[in-house]
Amino acid sequence: MVYHFEYDWFSPNIEVFKKHLAHLAGTPCETLEIGTHEGRSTTWMLENILTHPDARIVAIDLLQQPNLWDNLVESGQPLKVELRIGVSSEVVPTLQTNAFDFAYIDGSHWSCDVLEDAILTFKRMKVGGIMAFDDYLWDDPAFNEHGTPKVAVDAFLTCYAHKLELLEKGYQVWVRKISD
Ligand SMILES: C[S@@+](CC[C@H](N)C(=O)[O-])C[C@H]1O[C@@H](n2cnc3c(N)ncnc32)[C@H](O)[C@@H]1O
Repeated sequence: MVYHFEYDWFSPNIEVFKKHLAHLAGTPCETLEIGTHEGRSTTWMLENILTHPDARIVAIDLLQQPNLWDNLVESGQPLKVELRIGVSSEVVPTLQTNAFDFAYIDGSHWSCDVLEDAILTFKRMKVGGIMAFDDYLWDDPAFNEHGTPKVAVDAFLTCYAHKLELLEKGYQVWVRKISD
């Protein structure tokens, strides 16, 4: 496959994705991604996790990057992708509740947006489903005028502690929903 990507924010995460998502490979899993950008993480999931013919991903982004659709087609599995262009706070509430096996939250990095994505996404997860937050430790003064993901993820982990199992806390945070 010859993909066209300008950025690589995903490759450092591949080992942790394999560790926590291997059990979904070959299953008709329902997945969600907030922040699909050029499709680097999406196409990796299509190739490695969404291998069952009935596996699906809802991919949300504010904007459709020019190379996104070509990359999804290059994966050979574009029909597994439901592309939703819009703000996550408006798109996620339209999705079915208790429906997803995995959600990757990698959209807006401002604290209020990450917190809203976390809470809205939690309701869409099946019990047993896994949520991953990218850039938990990201803090770039040039872009953090409205806060960092860490503030929001810490608040979510605190408030939802009794409904979550913590799987990983490093540069990314991974949790399993253990109750509604
Ligand atoms: C870091 S990139 C995603 C990278 C991608 N997941 C990967 O690993 O290759 C973040 C993306 O989130 C999108 N985004 C930012 N704020 C958003 C929002 N409120 N709703 C939906 N998408 C958003 C941006 O347009 C951008 O494409």
